[in-house]
Amino acid sequence: MTVHFIGAGPGAADLMTLRGRDLIARCKVCLYAGSIVPPEVLAWCPAGARIVDTAPLSLDDIEAEFVAAQALGHDVARLHSGDLSIYSALAEQIRRLEKHGIAYTLTPGVPAFAAASAVLGREFTVPGLAQSLVITRVSGRASAMPAGETLAAFGATGATLAIHLAIHALEQVVEELAPLYGSDCPVAVVVEASRPGERVIRGTLGDIVAQVAAAPVERTALILVGRALAPEDFRESALYDAAYQRRFRGRE
Ligand SMILES: C[S@@+](CC[C@H](N)C(=O)[O-])C[C@H]1O[C@@H](n2cnc3c(N)ncnc32)[C@H](O)[C@@H]1O
Repeated sequence: MTVHFIGAGPGAADLMTLRGRDLIARCKVCLYAGSIVPPEVLAWCPAGARIVDTAPLSLDDIEAEFVAAQALGHDVARLHSGDLSIYSALAEQIRRLEKHGIAYTLTPGVPAFAAASAVLGREFTVPGLAQSLVITRVSGRASAMPAGETLAAFGATGATLAIHLAIHALEQVVEELAPLYGSDCPVAVVVEASRPGERVIRGTLGDIVAQVAAAPVERTALILVGRALAPEDFRESALYDAAYQRRFRGRE
């Protein structure tokens, strides 16, 4: 018996990996994280599968589901939104599984920041403007941020920021970042990327609060901040430079 953690992607069913789909199709139990997992994905479960929305459950309840499936010898597909490597409450579930000696696997998914890049039609690393992407969040009800991981600390680098779970704190985000990036720095709020309610609010650190107030965001959204979002004057990377190609082609 194995618990298969699966990154279900940002919302569109066709952004699930083939491996994830095939695992769902053969597991007799499917635990999914609320409305963020699309109904089409649940339709891949085999007939008669036990399908449980874990949104209203406690960690103890979820552990009980794992243990019950173990007793029956049923594999479990455990779905989380986006990719499992960030903000998936995975560590605490794995700790419980290890306590019971239950085997598990991880199948990656398309993270929300990658879906947002696609919606915006923008690369988050642009030569000379930003070569790093910081995936971060602000303190919330579920967990506080570690002391050193402040927006100010990350913002001091000038990297592109992908700020999760933070739309309720947009004013605070702007307050902390405007002095570092400048109030003309591009910002995009990507709401429900790849889902039917997808929309984008583009602006700057100077006007994004007013823009969002004019079109309130109640659902899942990602805040992107950085000069790479609106690249105007940047140098091309050397990768496709003719001289570089002659010297290094085939080496990387
Ligand atoms: C609990 S985190 C899960 C992140 C997920 N594991 C990932 O890889 O993207 C949920 C947050 O991710 C962002 N998010 C997830 N899906 C999104 C989507 N389709 N569009 C925009 N933001 C999304 C939002 O900031 C949301 O509050």
